[in-house]
Amino acid sequence: MRRLMVTGGAGFIGSNFVRYMLQAHPDYHILVYDKLTYAGRLENLQDVAEIFSDRYTFVRGDICDVALVDSTVEAQDIDTIVNFAAETHVDRSLMEPGSFIQTDVYGTYVLLESARKFGVERYHQVSTDEVYGQVLDGRSTEADHLEPRSPYSASKAAGDLMVLAYQESWGLPVTISRGSNNVGPYQYPEKVVPLFATNAIDEEPLPVYGDGQQMRDYQYVLDHCTGIDTVLHKGVLGEIYNVGTGAEITNMMMTEVVLETLNRPRALILHVADRPGHDRRYALDVSKLRTLGWENQYSCVQAVEKTVRWYADNESWWRPIKSGDTYKSYYAQQYGKRLEDA
Ligand SMILES: NC(=O)c1ccc[n+]([C@@H]2O[C@H](COP(=O)([O-])OP(=O)(O)OC[C@H]3O[C@@H](n4cnc5c(N)ncnc54)[C@H](O)[C@@H]3O)[C@@H](O)[C@H]2O)c1
Repeated sequence: MRRLMVTGGAGFIGSNFVRYMLQAHPDYHILVYDKLTYAGRLENLQDVAEIFSDRYTFVRGDICDVALVDSTVEAQDIDTIVNFAAETHVDRSLMEPGSFIQTDVYGTYVLLESARKFGVERYHQVSTDEVYGQVLDGRSTEADHLEPRSPYSASKAAGDLMVLAYQESWGLPVTISRGSNNVGPYQYPEKVVPLFATNAIDEEPLPVYGDGQQMRDYQYVLDHCTGIDTVLHKGVLGEIYNVGTGAEITNMMMTEVVLETLNRPRALILHVADRPGHDRRYALDVSKLRTLGWENQYSCVQAVEKTVRWYADNESWWRPIKSGDTYKSYYAQQYGKRLEDA
């Protein structure tokens, strides 16, 4: 493993992963392949491009573009593909499911096919705990049935099944990781934790869906990155590994941590109409990954606090996004009526 293609590497988790991998493995070359949708930004990798200029390359492209994917994998002599590229926001998947099916399912197929054609040594799929569906009791293990309930999680589940089908059918050397909710630097500010942090900084309302008692395993993005690195180096081919803290907090608790970290009043909390089909609880059993020697460093609360502090210290990153038309029109569509009704 020397020449990695990281698809979706200009997004939130992908950019953190690229930075971490180049630091951790001084002999690796990383090619980021990214379409630069609203969520992908070259600014997320600006320091990487400067510090690691001899080991980092960027190609702007769509994972659904067979010709460009194939020519990149072949010409760059790629031996490992790590696929982060996806449409990722559940709320957007309820507005326009088509792009999720296109990227998360068809795009995954294009990458798998290219990996097969050019004899790539490892294909790793970055997946999510949401494919298990809501888990009211107990914890999801990797052997559990998939019961996705949103267009986002259904398209990610379909991608996972295609990855496993390529392993069964053609012996493609694959692994899959299923991460819980990530928080950390460079997460597009329409996702809940950066949305709440940036709204709280500006003393704007924090729109909490429903009663806020949904439970989530908020993990710090760096823990997810070390988890994926562990799977790449120590994981068994064909296997799936859950990655998370293995504990959960409610969204209300997360909201309170945001407010306390920024010293803002609880009066900013506004309960708004819930997301349709909102999963009540996700909970991962992460013992399989721990048997490979991996441990998370941050608890859910520490992860949220650390993230909120990054947003407080990095206004120059998120203010241009929040003042742009793409963000504003999304926010108006998703929260305009909800805030009015509340
Ligand atoms: N954010 C989370 O909490 C979380 C948790 C578990 C798993 N995941 C998974 O991790 C991966 C990354 O998530 P994220 O939160 O960093 O997402 P993100 O939305 O921040 O970034 C996605 C990236 O993919 C790129 N992209 C989208 N469509 C593309 C296409 N057709 N071709 C090429 N590039 C494309 C975007 O430009 C962007 O850079 C996704 O596969 C997601 O399902 C996310």
